[in-house]
Amino acid sequence: MNLMVAVDEQWGIGKDGDLLRRIPTDMKRFRAMTMGNVLILGRKTLESFPNKKPLPNREHIVLTQNLAYHGEGVTLCHDIDDLTQLLKKFDGKEVFVAGGGSVYQQLLPLCQNAYITKIHDIYPADTFFPNLDELPDWEIVDEGEVLEDEGVKFSFVLYQRKK
Ligand SMILES: NC(=O)c1ccc[n+]([C@@H]2O[C@H](COP(=O)([O-])OP(=O)(O)OC[C@H]3O[C@@H](n4cnc5c(N)ncnc54)[C@H](OP(=O)(O)O)[C@@H]3O)[C@@H](O)[C@H]2O)c1
Repeated sequence: MNLMVAVDEQWGIGKDGDLLRRIPTDMKRFRAMTMGNVLILGRKTLESFPNKKPLPNREHIVLTQNLAYHGEGVTLCHDIDDLTQLLKKFDGKEVFVAGGGSVYQQLLPLCQNAYITKIHDIYPADTFFPNLDELPDWEIVDEGEVLEDEGVKFSFVLYQRKK
């Protein structure tokens, strides 16, 4: 299982239900990497998408405890222990954990690859990702050059769970 997240220098990922910054280059990469694949996300992150709708051409597994929740075009999951079973339905596709904070936290132990967009700045945030530099199981295996888009500096960094 993989995960993709954009973090600031303090591993902040969101504020008031929204992203810290929208970086078009990062969005394009997210789209390209997840296209045709499976996203796992929390109900709050789904509701932060445009019109609260799933993204085109990707399977969405949405976690919610609300048994009455209706999400159009998504597969609902009410218990994280059911995920492995649910994922069998999408065998052969890559799986990406796509947030938010609570879902990253719970599924990090199941992930091998963490595609981190590191934003070289600090923003006010109320939602955070675990600091992978402080977790002994994780190491950086690829670190891209510093890029800039709309005045925001960032780099794509791949962390992997140590073998
Ligand atoms: N920087 C990034 O790359 C990035 C990516 C994605 C999201 N974000 C940000 O992250 C923030 C949202 O994160 P969040 O932690 O507040 O919300 P979230 O993880 O998106 O959603 C939380 C909701 O998911 C459901 N859920 C979580 N664990 C569950 C479980 N084990 N079983 C059943 N349902 C479960 C619950 O829904 P119910 O309440 O319906 O039961 C819970 O309230 C936003 O600011 C968003 O913009 C950032």
